[in-house]
Amino acid sequence: MIENMTLQQQLEPIIRKVGPENIWRPIHDRNDHLLFEGVGHYTGTIQKALNTLNFSRKSVVDLGCNFGFYSFYAAQKGAARVVGIDSDPDVIRGCRILARHYRITNVEFRVADFIFGDVPDTYDIALMVDFIGKNVIRKEKLLPCLSRLMKIARQCIFMSIIPEYDIHRVLKLAPDWVAARYGAPFVQNERFRLIGLVQSLLGESWEISIPCDKGGRPQVTKHPLTAVKKPLILL
Ligand SMILES: C[S@@+](CC[C@H](N)C(=O)[O-])C[C@H]1O[C@@H](n2cnc3c(N)ncnc32)[C@H](O)[C@@H]1O
Repeated sequence: MIENMTLQQQLEPIIRKVGPENIWRPIHDRNDHLLFEGVGHYTGTIQKALNTLNFSRKSVVDLGCNFGFYSFYAAQKGAARVVGIDSDPDVIRGCRILARHYRITNVEFRVADFIFGDVPDTYDIALMVDFIGKNVIRKEKLLPCLSRLMKIARQCIFMSIIPEYDIHRVLKLAPDWVAARYGAPFVQNERFRLIGLVQSLLGESWEISIPCDKGGRPQVTKHPLTAVKKPLILL
């Protein structure tokens, strides 16, 4: 029965259940016809930075994969194996339908909470695009999320973050609350320097690159961040 349904017919009930406001990237069929719009922004900047990564023969995990936009990208760029992880079972059902439709075989999708759940494997590259935002910061998931990410990634981390937040206006929090949870050094002039916290957590063993504006400061919109594990030097 399912074989006779179009991709759109298979996906429609899933999209309705998930809610179109939770479809992050555009979904196309294998002939590149747009089926559903995505609500996420910044695709251009993220895509540009992603294009510099070498996926060839790598194992890749896409954390909070939504409908698998970046999982499929990595799979098509020559990754040996891609695992897309999302906590929403309906989203993962959609990803599996898309993988069958695209006939992409080096990708699989799993339902899991990658922050607090069981994610036993490690991967050469970990993608975590448009995951860290106001809610993750407010709900105190930021530190466990970053700590999981560092355990899962063997060689390279690719994520998007807003380097700095206005604590009152954007986060709707008090500077003391943020300082108590995330550390006083990252709260300056009522701004939360998320980039500083990420750099400090990754520490000396990761080489971080984040594009800067013309003045050399990280930009304040959502931004790609790549961290590559430095080789271990045995003395
Ligand atoms: C904003 S979307 C980002 C989607 C995707 N990374 C992209 O850029 O297209 C966040 C996704 O993370 C999923 N998610 C939220 N919390 C999660 C968790 N703890 N573990 C796994 N997935 C989670 C949501 O269901 C949602 O699909």
